[in-house]
Amino acid sequence: MTSDSDPESHIMKLDQEQIEHFHSEGYLFIPDCFSATETSGLLEESYKVYAMDREEVVRENSGVARTAFAAHTYNEGFRLLGAHPRLIKPVMQLLDEDVYMHQYKVNAKAAFDGEVWQWHQDFGTWHRDDEMPEPRAMNIAIYLDDVTAANGPLLFIPRSHKDGTLPAGHDIETTSYPLWTLDRETVTRLAEQGGIATPVGKAGSVVMFHCNLVHASPPNISPFGRTIVYLSLCAVSNHIRRYKRAEFIAHRDFTPIAPLADNCLSDLGAEAA
Ligand code: SIN
Ligand code: MN
Repeated sequence: MTSDSDPESHIMKLDQEQIEHFHSEGYLFIPDCFSATETSGLLEESYKVYAMDREEVVRENSGVARTAFAAHTYNEGFRLLGAHPRLIKPVMQLLDEDVYMHQYKVNAKAAFDGEVWQWHQDFGTWHRDDEMPEPRAMNIAIYLDDVTAANGPLLFIPRSHKDGTLPAGHDIETTSYPLWTLDRETVTRLAEQGGIATPVGKAGSVVMFHCNLVHASPPNISPFGRTIVYLSLCAVSNHIRRYKRAEFIAHRDFTPIAPLADNCLSDLGAEAA
């Protein structure tokens, strides 16, 4: 990422090569987007959130936290991250429109106990359950831990976003969280074409991915946690039409996000230090 020529604007812009990579592969990996101070402060906040007894904190069958939905609405650090210019500006650039927060997750993938995320496309769920009209939305993930081959990394099928929204079945059994998942024949066909990429990287890395990109992650049987925050951002004009799911899972506030200052997390880091 390159800074805008006006140092006061704090605007981060993707360059042409990054934009082309996103469109051709369906994702873009950006290392070193956040500092160790920023990510360690947020990681501390995630432990506080997981310790809360609230409906937004979904647990694995073992009882450890699986994900905390809408953490930006009840935790100050995650509120700031949810309007961070290093995340919001590039997504606005790619969607060419103001964006709102459709969903916000802090996924734990806990050491030893973090369970699978089956093969799926996010837009499949957003379209079927929430009546989001078009795939004009995307995820931007922030790694708060190092993500390695050992701790249940994301698995992407490159270029699978070009196949549109694929048939899926509603899996309400495999984990504690219902998901529209793809069958083995579809995953096999797509993986034979595109292979499987594992965007591993250090804490502070960011990965943006298209809402039709087929992805999954295996269980984490390692002793290392794998905390990743996901902002699912949607073009404002493409807001959801149906309010079937809980508001903390599929948000109904379509207010455009106004990006904060680039140093908005610095106080959080100072507190954690
Ligand atoms: C997701 O697909 O929404 C989450 C996957 C993961 O955190 O491994
Ligand atoms: Mn997903």
